[in-house]
Amino acid sequence: MTKRYTVTAALPYSNGRLHVGHIAGCYLPADIYVRYLRSRGEEVAFICGSDDYGVPVALTAREQGTSPQEVVEKYRDIQKKDFDGLGINFDIYSGTTADIHTQISQEMFLNIRENDYLSKKTTQQLYDPEAEMFLPDRYVEGTCPYCGSEEARGDQCEACGKAVDTLDLKDPRSVVTESSPVVRDTVHWFFQLPAFRDRLKEWIQSHPEWRDMVRNFTLGVLDEGLPERPITRDLGWGIPVPLEDDPDAEGKVLYVWFDAPIGYVSFTAQWCQQQGGDWQDYEQWWKDPDTEIVHFIGEDNVVFHAIMWPSMLMADGTFELPSNIVSNCFLNIQFPGEEETKMSTSRGTAVWIGDYLEDYDPDPLRYYLTMIAPERQRTAFKFEDLVQRNNQELVAALGNFFYRTVTFTHKYLGGEVPPRGSLNDQDREQLRRMERLPDEVGEHLDKCEFKAGLQTVMEAARETNRYFDYREPWVKRKEDMDECGTIMNVALNTMKTLAVVCEPFLPFTARKAARMLGMEEEFRWDDAATPLPERQTLGEPEIPFEKLET
Ligand code: MF3
Ligand code: ZN
Repeated sequence: MTKRYTVTAALPYSNGRLHVGHIAGCYLPADIYVRYLRSRGEEVAFICGSDDYGVPVALTAREQGTSPQEVVEKYRDIQKKDFDGLGINFDIYSGTTADIHTQISQEMFLNIRENDYLSKKTTQQLYDPEAEMFLPDRYVEGTCPYCGSEEARGDQCEACGKAVDTLDLKDPRSVVTESSPVVRDTVHWFFQLPAFRDRLKEWIQSHPEWRDMVRNFTLGVLDEGLPERPITRDLGWGIPVPLEDDPDAEGKVLYVWFDAPIGYVSFTAQWCQQQGGDWQDYEQWWKDPDTEIVHFIGEDNVVFHAIMWPSMLMADGTFELPSNIVSNCFLNIQFPGEEETKMSTSRGTAVWIGDYLEDYDPDPLRYYLTMIAPERQRTAFKFEDLVQRNNQELVAALGNFFYRTVTFTHKYLGGEVPPRGSLNDQDREQLRRMERLPDEVGEHLDKCEFKAGLQTVMEAARETNRYFDYREPWVKRKEDMDECGTIMNVALNTMKTLAVVCEPFLPFTARKAARMLGMEEEFRWDDAATPLPERQTLGEPEIPFEKLET
């Protein structure tokens, strides 16, 4: 029976280009997972879009001397192109400045207030007298109250991952004027996070299958106790607090981390509408206990997705909770002869997707990023390493096998799938290996172990080469054409299985392989080892991977 899955990838702030760290963090794993589910015949909504509001975008607009709206439009297009170029095809790529997002976010705010999980309080906030503005979130930087890192941002410390309150920062400084802010009174709405502590704990404990880093980090935060969190801001760029009758609400907007995850829901609604349905159809993707909701995120998003967001869903009271929250750690970068360092947009230490795609194909990058995926700990991107693994693994094990199988069949067997004939032990063993492979890879993918899944594919490809070299069809061709045909039948069917199981990881390569095999049907995981029709005409040989140079 098919199942319904709502798969989301963290909404990138629409204020910069995407680099390989973003892709390795959540977009590529999410795409692999979605492709796998689709190949299994599951029903999937793959949802993403840009995170348009909040301080990050406002700050970029200030730096570039333009309006936030322009920043959003510029970068959303660039990001969309980067995703497309890598074969990461969301069902919808919207943005949080969409009208329906405003509507659904405001409704959720009101529901949560109606359910008594919000309280209005006079509170203190840092204020920059020189710039004449409040300094919410990333408008301030300072020393982390938890770990002492001197580069903590006003909303979160990157060094320890904890959510921070600007008032708790030591030695705060205004990002706008570099001056020391003063404290001023202001009114805000606070979310009763503490009310959800026990339920959160129970929920997380009921999911032993989640990655340790998500579970342990979140349970640690819960043990320290949850504070109430203000979910409104004094800021000109955001969704207005929908309380027209309350003069205190004037000039206040929703906190960007309150509205952004609601984007997952509002984009789903928009997608339902685009497909000719009602926007309310989103409910089957978010409010049906049979639907699996899976969030793919990066390391610095764990707190928000495993604590804040599920609490919001519970406070609203009409939603299902996520089934899984899949997070990678950060991907560092290492340039030749230099120390490993954090990838950083502001410091320019990154490899940009747009630049990469100008010179290279997407699959070698997808391959490399999956093989070095920071699934359990931070790892480092090294361009020479990508080149080497492309040449020694992708080209040598997979590319050559596909190419020589098809060229050989064209040259000596009339370009069609030869009859199976009589199999010997090696042939039978090779076919059995291919029958087992989809389950072996699938078991890893079911558990979101993407690196292990791809390693399993590559190991099978290497074994296949050994089979092929051992059977020597180029020698048999001169002795026994029937036996030669049998070997090539096994080789072509092996190629089909490898194409189907590598498709989630290497979709462009898989398509090429399918064209070469003359396959017209969609990839179906469960048919990966179903034999190709004998006498099926092959397509023209295409070189799957080029050797790369640094
Ligand atoms: N824009 C955030 C970031 O880049 C991620 C937002 S994810 C969402 O860190 F859930 F809030 F949408
Ligand atoms: Zn810290």
